[in-house]
Amino acid sequence: MTPQKSVTEADVGGKRVLVRVDFNVPLSGAHSTDGVGGSDSTRGAVVTDDTRIRAALPTIRHLVEHGARVILVSHLGRPIAGERGAAQPEFSLSPACRALEALLGREVKLLEGNLEHEASVREAIEAMSDGDVVMLENIRFYPGEKNNDPEFARALASLADLYVNDAFGTAHRAHASTAGVAEFLPAYAGLLLAREVDTLVTMLRDAPTPFIAILGGSKVSDKFGVIERLIDVVDTLLIGGGMAFTFVAAKGYDVGTSLVEPDWVEPATRMLEKAAQKDCELLLPVDYVVADRFAEDAATRIVAAEEIPVDMMGLDIGPASCELFAAKIAEAQTIFWNGPMGVFEMAPFEAGTKAVAVAVAANDEATSVIGGGDSVAALKKFGLEEQVTFISTGGGAAMKLVEGAALPGLSALGEV
Ligand code: 3PG
Repeated sequence: MTPQKSVTEADVGGKRVLVRVDFNVPLSGAHSTDGVGGSDSTRGAVVTDDTRIRAALPTIRHLVEHGARVILVSHLGRPIAGERGAAQPEFSLSPACRALEALLGREVKLLEGNLEHEASVREAIEAMSDGDVVMLENIRFYPGEKNNDPEFARALASLADLYVNDAFGTAHRAHASTAGVAEFLPAYAGLLLAREVDTLVTMLRDAPTPFIAILGGSKVSDKFGVIERLIDVVDTLLIGGGMAFTFVAAKGYDVGTSLVEPDWVEPATRMLEKAAQKDCELLLPVDYVVADRFAEDAATRIVAAEEIPVDMMGLDIGPASCELFAAKIAEAQTIFWNGPMGVFEMAPFEAGTKAVAVAVAANDEATSVIGGGDSVAALKKFGLEEQVTFISTGGGAAMKLVEGAALPGLSALGEV
């Protein structure tokens, strides 16, 4: 799975370069619902976390500095395909476009016209000079995007001379702008995409040991393939979060009213057996913070993993588990972390996730790779995001890659 031709190998001077980025970023702020569409109707909305935009800057800057005419393509959220931006102003890329302008220090024009049926998009692209940057409006406004419709991919490709995919966060989607378009244009990997793939692949192949993975989050079903793969490659696998209760059930203990996935108890049992066979130390929490209901002001207790009361639910790992997990993390040379240990958004249930975040940040001997999603939000909440080696911009895509699944956005770029 090693990439692919890099954007640095492409002769981009004077060329129109279609660049797929992942500017699916969180927004906040006022939206007017005047139905005007585009930038007017999203006035006031701001990007609240610009990590993904910053991460795309090296590729955009490289292209600008080499005289390319850069046409950015991204999705934002999950709008109803077929409804234009005027009808769905909350999905406009206008706030992302403004954030990029500020970071880049140059104008980035948002092209709001329909690229299939209106001349305005093509005219604006024809009027570009070398080094200019424009952005198409949310590509998921078009039904052909998620269907990976070849006709739509062809229309998109016809706007440009070259294609660069820098949207690692969307590489697990087989959409027109992430995969289909590469059929019609010379295709290259962007710098972010290449760095993400390289970091994760190197970690899976050549990690200095001890290699420890920490997995959390609510469901085993979401991460089963990842657990299965990690058992093959890591020395120790720590499992916390809601998904741990399915393993508690697999060990034959009561989980009270905790989240459990009954259909996954048997597969979880198999994973416990596989870990034992493979000599992978799979550690579950030894205690939990349990609550009488899912609420910040719930009554709580700390109980041993085998003693969860029938009428209580586990919402965080307990203090003995924090110590156990932190001690393991301190010994690691390579750390991979994805998923919180508890409901860290609520103060009474944040200690487990915080303990893991602090332990990962404190181990400055190790290479620490954070696989996107909620673990990144947790690191940010505790102000520790600068103290890890690498934070993936793609939660879902990173998990698919770790699992060993083919990523359509990478496959489309071909192997070299
Ligand atoms: C993400 O945020 O995970 C990516 O941008 C992909 O978005 P999607 O899950 O809506 O395809």
